[in-house]
Amino acid sequence: MGLMTKGGRFLIKGLAGKRVLEGTLNVRGAKNAAPKAAAAALLFSDTLHITNTPDIEDFHRLLELLLKIGVRVKKTGSDSFSLLAKGKIKTSLPRALAKRMRMSVILTGPLLARFGRVSLPHPGGCLIGARPIDLFLDGFKKMGAVVKMKEEGYELSAPREGLHGAEIFFPTISVTGTETLMMAAVLARGTTILRNAALEPEIPALAKFLNTCGADIRGAGTSTITIKGGKLLVSKGKPYVTPPDRIEAGSFLILAALLARDVTIASCEPSHLESLITLLTRAGVHIDVGKHSVRVRGDHKLPYHSFGLKTHEYPGFPTDLQAPMAVFLTQALGEALVFETIFESRLRYVDELVRMGADIMLLDPHRLLVRGPRPLRGKELESPDLRAGLAYIIAALVAEGNSIIHNVYIIDRGYERIEERLKGVGADIRRA
Ligand code: EPU
Repeated sequence: MGLMTKGGRFLIKGLAGKRVLEGTLNVRGAKNAAPKAAAAALLFSDTLHITNTPDIEDFHRLLELLLKIGVRVKKTGSDSFSLLAKGKIKTSLPRALAKRMRMSVILTGPLLARFGRVSLPHPGGCLIGARPIDLFLDGFKKMGAVVKMKEEGYELSAPREGLHGAEIFFPTISVTGTETLMMAAVLARGTTILRNAALEPEIPALAKFLNTCGADIRGAGTSTITIKGGKLLVSKGKPYVTPPDRIEAGSFLILAALLARDVTIASCEPSHLESLITLLTRAGVHIDVGKHSVRVRGDHKLPYHSFGLKTHEYPGFPTDLQAPMAVFLTQALGEALVFETIFESRLRYVDELVRMGADIMLLDPHRLLVRGPRPLRGKELESPDLRAGLAYIIAALVAEGNSIIHNVYIIDRGYERIEERLKGVGADIRRA
């Protein structure tokens, strides 16, 4: 599929807190958007084109999954693909691949709705909590499916006449749950109403595109989404353009707040970063917000002020920026309570930061207390998950001395050639 599995380790020379980075960081297409659009190929009778795709492991693994089940996947340019779901499509997700990636569960909705059955292993993914799939299963049952749990996974089947529309309330807000049920509803007969749906910008982006191809989805981007379904979609060559990755943009913004003399984060959507920009500005970071860019200038007298933080579904503060933000707080003046409300094991990265010199106290599995500012020292690190991996890169760059980050594969899952891009603004980081 054109991507070499990179991996290896990063060697990073710390800047000892000096704000010297300069230049432009371009944000790539969203990790959590492009694969969902690829899954949507199963809703189309013709070829679906996707552009601005990120060259990251998670997207390529999802394409590999689609290829394995029989979807014709072609690379059509440096960052574009075409997908055609025609002919024989397998409805059982290949075990090894699906287990490696939690995101594969996104395929269940489209497969079940189009082909009347799907089987999947118990889902895998990053080590950030139990990540159950009860919301998916409950939704599919409401749409008429029968769910059988076997030792090796789940088998779902639709009634002979296909799934039907249903009213579905999400007791917990779920991004992928909203997306996969929304896609299932596009092919289900009648009207589906999703309540307490997730609001993440990836969802209206997908809905808007599907609507241009014949879907009837209203309210995406609000907590009630109404879908009138029943027929296959036709793209007639219109491409889905992957929106910029708001988590990558946010991570760059945090990095720039700590290390930039003058850095512009370009090709991003600042309106998706409101919670982050508000907090950083309050802390004293100088941010100029443009239409599709944000610029950070390192002219505020250090240290910045600390602030408390609670993760929340969009548009609240994203859980995916919690670890990078904790690194920021180690450099800010005061005491900050960080409260992770979305996942139950997303604070595993803390021990390594403490070894680097951070003053962080783990209060319970969801909350930590960060006191700053504290100088960090370079260390050998190994990240427990993708987002913590980026937090370690930021910490290693802030620190004094050299760091080694092992198991970089986990960072490659979501950030395209991160070392080359950071080198472009003057960071001393290389892959070995
Ligand atoms: N949940 C359930 N039951 C379900 C599904 C989810 O209880 O059936 C719970 C989860 O355990 C969690 C909460 O609902 O406590 C929210 O999970 P959600 O389903 O929203 O997460 P997700 O869709 O699996 C996506 C992103 C994550 C991001 C979260 C939260 C994708 C592929 N992944 O996950 O991204 O952290 O939303 O915003 O879209 C990442 O990019 O590093 C990443 C983990």
